[in-house]
Amino acid sequence: MLIVTGANGKLGRGVVEQLLQRIPAEQIGVSVRDVSQAQDLAERGVRVRHGDFASAESLLHAFEGASQVLLVSTGMLGDAGLRQHQTAINAAKKSGAGRVLYTSHMGSSSTSYFPPMVHHAATEDLLEASGMRHTSLRNGFYASSLVRLIGDAVHTGELIAPEDGPIAWTTHADLAQATAVILTEKNWDGPSPNLTASEAIDMEGVAAMVSDIVGRPIYRKVVTDEAYRAHLAAQGFPEMRLAITLGIFRASRNGDFAQTSSALADLIGRSPLTLRDDLKASLPLSDAL
Ligand SMILES: NC(=O)c1ccc[n+]([C@@H]2O[C@H](COP(=O)([O-])OP(=O)(O)OC[C@H]3O[C@@H](n4cnc5c(N)ncnc54)[C@H](OP(=O)(O)O)[C@@H]3O)[C@@H](O)[C@H]2O)c1
Repeated sequence: MLIVTGANGKLGRGVVEQLLQRIPAEQIGVSVRDVSQAQDLAERGVRVRHGDFASAESLLHAFEGASQVLLVSTGMLGDAGLRQHQTAINAAKKSGAGRVLYTSHMGSSSTSYFPPMVHHAATEDLLEASGMRHTSLRNGFYASSLVRLIGDAVHTGELIAPEDGPIAWTTHADLAQATAVILTEKNWDGPSPNLTASEAIDMEGVAAMVSDIVGRPIYRKVVTDEAYRAHLAAQGFPEMRLAITLGIFRASRNGDFAQTSSALADLIGRSPLTLRDDLKASLPLSDAL
């Protein structure tokens, strides 16, 4: 049985939907914190069990009979987040699964300026130390994260951010499809190739793209890291969120997210969705000035 954690979240649910198109529902199990939210999956024949990375016992039950476990990273950083990932890896091992897969990120590195990359690198070390067969999915940056960085530029006409570098923005839909293919068809070990869309683009390019989509000029305005930090702090961003948001710019101008690869296209058998199409669908265009 293939077990997917985080199946009430965006990526995990997308993977389950893709798996349902490939293998019988009886061969899929989900480990979720709230089983009621996965009722629709249970009705379609998926095994739904409660599993929380904070509780080893719950995971052992949720992973019972696993051939492979897809661990969707929880988003909790720091020591507590790492302890949860260790608990999940231990449970996957105890369940007798032949392979564990983990949603890492392109640019995963212990020295990254972007805190989540340090966390992914540390989790990859835990996977290596587990002695289990494992695949670390080096996912591209979610295009949905860019919408948050664009913020109210659609309304103000100014895309204000620190100096940056290109990022290969990639959609959840494509990553979910690729993950299902890897789970069912690829015996990859260790870090995957970068799973990215076909182009990397910087904020200057994003401003031009958004301008084109909304039909009005959006100007890219570069500010210092300090000015941006003060701007975010004034909005009440806590320290960790400040470090994460500023880290995107510092790491991207270091070139950490610039490399594209054809691996995602090869897995899904078509060109990945473009950032332009994703932004057209997700930007708040109706109330643009
Ligand atoms: N590649 C990128 O650019 C990028 C960007 C942001 C985040 N990420 C990472 O990718 C992950 C998946 O992305 P997503 O968009 O699917 O996020 P999401 O919709 O927030 O889903 C995260 C899932 O993790 C589950 N989770 C959180 N804490 C847990 C715990 N203690 N035990 C078990 N499950 C737990 C959540 O469960 P509930 O449904 O019960 O809340 C949720 O289903 C994120 O969690 C984050 O680590 C990647």
